[in-house]
Amino acid sequence: MDILNPEQFRALGYRAIDMIAEQLADLTDGPTRRPVPLDIRHGLEDQPIPQTGADPFDLLDRVQNEILAYPMGNPSPRFFAWVNSTPTPIGILGDLFAAAMSPSAAGGDQAATYVERAALTWVKDMLGFPQEAQGLFVSGGSKANLTCLAVMRHVMSDGKVRHEGMMAQDAPMIVYTSAHGHSCIEKTVSALGIGSQNLRIIPVDSQYRMDLTKLREAIAADRAAGLHPVCVAASAGTTNTGAIDQLDEIADLCEAEKMWFHIDGAYGGFGILAEQTEGLYKGMNRADSIAVDPHKWLYIPVECGCAIVRHADAMRATFSLVPAYLQEDRAEPWFSEYGLQQTRGFRALKVWLSIQHYGLDGYRKMITQDINTAYDLRRKLFTRSDFEVVTAGPLSVTCFRYVPAGVPEDMLDDLQRQIVAWTNASARAFITTTMIDGKVVVRACHVNFRTTSADLDVLLDTLTEAGQLVLETARSA
Ligand SMILES: Cc1ncc(COP(=O)(O)O)c(C=O)c1O
Repeated sequence: MDILNPEQFRALGYRAIDMIAEQLADLTDGPTRRPVPLDIRHGLEDQPIPQTGADPFDLLDRVQNEILAYPMGNPSPRFFAWVNSTPTPIGILGDLFAAAMSPSAAGGDQAATYVERAALTWVKDMLGFPQEAQGLFVSGGSKANLTCLAVMRHVMSDGKVRHEGMMAQDAPMIVYTSAHGHSCIEKTVSALGIGSQNLRIIPVDSQYRMDLTKLREAIAADRAAGLHPVCVAASAGTTNTGAIDQLDEIADLCEAEKMWFHIDGAYGGFGILAEQTEGLYKGMNRADSIAVDPHKWLYIPVECGCAIVRHADAMRATFSLVPAYLQEDRAEPWFSEYGLQQTRGFRALKVWLSIQHYGLDGYRKMITQDINTAYDLRRKLFTRSDFEVVTAGPLSVTCFRYVPAGVPEDMLDDLQRQIVAWTNASARAFITTTMIDGKVVVRACHVNFRTTSADLDVLLDTLTEAGQLVLETARSA
């Protein structure tokens, strides 16, 4: 077996860094996301297990030709889908160093522990969250929400659920989120055994925020029915429109009702740093727990979510279990006592490096710029008569429709899907649809410091070209 010696590793590593640097340099003019050709796809997924080893330089050739060439596309400045950011270059190196060290960042006296503490301190600072709160880096927003709501379930069962299970509860726990709350909240209440039938989906108001009158009515009705309202899972930036629920009012309500106030800030939490959002996050610092996603609006390479719980002791009581073989090096609690994972990756390093590289100032500018990009897109849409803006939320998401004159309403949903599919197949830009008020809309989200105004023109020109082609084809059929 040929284990690489340090010199061979160095040569291979230089080549790998060159490949990544080329990839970054090509982002401005290169394709966004191309379909994977069938032969390459089969070569990747149907390859039998290799019986003998291969030359690592040949493997890097394969990475270059078969993998780097067919990305998901989010590093590109013309990727507007979902909430997937372009990665910070120094964060890419952070993952490389983390892999080189390959520690378990579970805890103990090692650099990874102190780096994670520092990075968590900075994340709490960014969010204006009290420093006594406990943070934990996890795989992403879904896991962060799950971690926070597991603590909620522990606290709201007076600590009983851990030993007795959910069946020992006198009445079903009820959780409330808005109709635009993320699907991971439903996954979480299912996974925690609360049951999706006990998740109340509260309608939204005209700004797509949770309707607080309806929320109060739902809580009152559930109490009257003998159920146990335990938690409002509010959104600080919904995926669909970027709406921020009225956090301060929800904090008041939770306080009065003795309920847990959770915030899903996976997309929008770091929007608090933007110039344009002053006042919108009032009350965020009153939450019992908040889920944020550094791999979204801190542009940290995937994966990196973050769970923050105000009551550190409650978080520890929810998860801590230290078996006999893990008793050493315990001067301070381990991170693994605050979550589900025992062996944990060194995610904090890429966060620690990126925050130092850009500084708070740099992050403020980048996030502000993403919201300005959304404003720019909206201005451009207003000047094109074939488009209408459907939602123009406070953050960096815009929902819009292609509505050329003469196309009947019942064809419009299909038209949006077709122009998006055509645009994506062109590899000039990548974008997705969603549903707003029962209608299919095109949705553009900017969490990308590389996007320029010219990229927005490419997007709109391509969608328009797609629209004309789709309509011509329909007319000639
Ligand atoms: C508001 C919101 N919450 C939760 C999530 C889930 O986060 P992740 O995909 O990192 O698990 C997302 C993902 O887009 C999101 O936008």
